[in-house]
Amino acid sequence: MSEDVYTAPLQRPAHVGEDWLEKQSTYDSEDDAIWNDLYARQMELLPGRACTAFMRGLDKLNLDRGGVPDFGEISEELKQQTGWSVVAVPALVPDHVFFYHLANRRFPAGNFIRTRETFDYIQEPDVFHDVFGHVPMLTDPVFADYMEAYGKAGWRAMQYNRLKALGALYWYTVEFGLILEEGDLRAYGAGILSGPTEVRFSVEAKSPNRIMLDVDRVMRTDYVISDLQNTYFVIESFEDLFHKTEGRDFAKLYERLPMHFTYATTAVIDTDDVIQLGTQEYALRGGRGSSARPV
Ligand code: CO
Repeated sequence: MSEDVYTAPLQRPAHVGEDWLEKQSTYDSEDDAIWNDLYARQMELLPGRACTAFMRGLDKLNLDRGGVPDFGEISEELKQQTGWSVVAVPALVPDHVFFYHLANRRFPAGNFIRTRETFDYIQEPDVFHDVFGHVPMLTDPVFADYMEAYGKAGWRAMQYNRLKALGALYWYTVEFGLILEEGDLRAYGAGILSGPTEVRFSVEAKSPNRIMLDVDRVMRTDYVISDLQNTYFVIESFEDLFHKTEGRDFAKLYERLPMHFTYATTAVIDTDDVIQLGTQEYALRGGRGSSARPV
């Protein structure tokens, strides 16, 4: 979910139903080969860098059955684990539709798959980002509850006109979150786990800051949309993440929040619990500009 999603008015395509659901596409053999190649590339990178829940989720859902997985089949597995399912939607859906699906434990997944030309970088989330990156985490019961709570929180944020702040929370947790496992940094964010570059960068590079997650702080923090992150926020456990958000009175928090982000992407502030202070050498060099992955 990127910022422009909040403002761009979307026209519902003619073939799409009221709830923006569409039929899963049929994929040809080249599409399936692209899925398999993307999968193989990520598996070179993920062991020892992705969190345990993600690796377990990949196993449980057997996402390397060959080619783009069938949403119906994954949903059956997923329903047994945590009651979630995967539904096909156009690449982008309006906020209220996105929240509506999450609040009902349905993960809206983009239907199309990237091409060889866009193998490393695509702007809009495709089926590989959405299914490989996001769905394994939904097999974790606590993370699954967090995602439902996030969907419900979305409606409240719309009432308070605070989608930008809530979007930053999504960004720094669901898309680019890190977790500590026995003292080691591991990635659980789908934006990290579905791309070729940020897996190593997020957990190993000296450049970015790693700071313990504080919800108020994160909601005031800007983020980089089309490049590697300058700061990652870290949780102790998914229970920790759930309690930090579920227990909060967001109405109160929103009343205090300024309309615009207060902190730059590289900022470190007095109240931060800093795990690793980054050198920011990557940001100081001007970043790469377009190493982006979809979210
Ligand atoms: Co995403």
